[in-house]
Amino acid sequence: MQEKAFLHTSSEITIDKGFVTWESPSNIALVKYWGKKEHQIPANPSISFTLSNCKTKTTLSYSKRDIGIDKYQFEVFLEGVQQDDFKPKIATFFKRIEQYVPFIKEYKYTIETSNTFPHSSGIASSASGMSALALCIMSIEKELNPNISDSDFIKKASFLARLGSGSACRSLEGDLVCWGTHKEIEGTSDLFGVTYPHKVHDNFKNYQDTILLVDKGEKQVSSTVGHNLMHNHPYAENRFQQAHDNLSKLIEVFKTGDLSGFIEIVESEALTLHAMMMTSLPYFILMKPNTLEIINKIWEFRKASGLHLCFTLDAGANVHLLYPAFEKEEVLDFINTQLVGYCQNGHYICDSTGLGANLLVD
Ligand code: DP6
Repeated sequence: MQEKAFLHTSSEITIDKGFVTWESPSNIALVKYWGKKEHQIPANPSISFTLSNCKTKTTLSYSKRDIGIDKYQFEVFLEGVQQDDFKPKIATFFKRIEQYVPFIKEYKYTIETSNTFPHSSGIASSASGMSALALCIMSIEKELNPNISDSDFIKKASFLARLGSGSACRSLEGDLVCWGTHKEIEGTSDLFGVTYPHKVHDNFKNYQDTILLVDKGEKQVSSTVGHNLMHNHPYAENRFQQAHDNLSKLIEVFKTGDLSGFIEIVESEALTLHAMMMTSLPYFILMKPNTLEIINKIWEFRKASGLHLCFTLDAGANVHLLYPAFEKEEVLDFINTQLVGYCQNGHYICDSTGLGANLLVD
């Protein structure tokens, strides 16, 4: 499938105004997206668990505006407070998607958004936020083109979300989503996310993700800058190949329910992601001392208990603890007795895998 498949077909229908509300979750990558080409094309395939509790809810209100003014007209509110610092990212998003949804120029917008997790938690809201916004825009497209099928609607929403933030294209459905062409996973594309099509063992159903909030501050280096540092990176080609290989290995792991195999791949991916940051130029470190304390505690606990707790990291210091639902009680006890002290103000968020975005008001 090529980009041109997502171009808008003009319609006879006109709408003057309306509003729509979608909620969309965050996701946590198991095989990481790190490095991209032009037009938000990933340098390697990735796969993530869609989360359930960490969500963004977005209402998009739109009304016809005078044409002739070139710039997009919109206001953004987070929890009711105007956020002008969100505007450049959204303006870039509008510019990138305009050729696929040209009607966006005809309206002015109010974007009202809220997160179920604290904005200052260091949890990336770009995946949930951009996917919710892309879905709202697709709801306008559906008003104009009611014949669009549900599967084309989701595919194009994921395509648009990718243009807002790469990882956002993996947030629309659940509970495992792949993005980026992989030769052993049919239907995968660099242009949009697809639900993982192969067999998944019950061990991975309702998988738990407890997010330890080690550092709630703003990241010193944004993901976008980090991705760009993969250009001319000395280890880039090997890293991209490793992501393909790890996804191939995961197919067997998911099929057989091999939790030890899962842990090895997921932890290696997290550490490789941070190794790429440490070996780029300029180099940088996003882990904090408590991130390493937690990792060492997890390894000790796993050895002593024989349980299947592992960690992954995003582009930040927070630690995602991943474990099967049937080990929840023992792991929560371990978190509360041994890990909570490493979290800023003792904060952590309990989440688990989920099924993706929901339309709330149309
Ligand atoms: C480390 O999707 O935030 O979370 O496309 O520039 O918006 P942009 O980057 P973004 O990168 C996320 C990278 C990651 C790994 C992952 O989610 O796969």
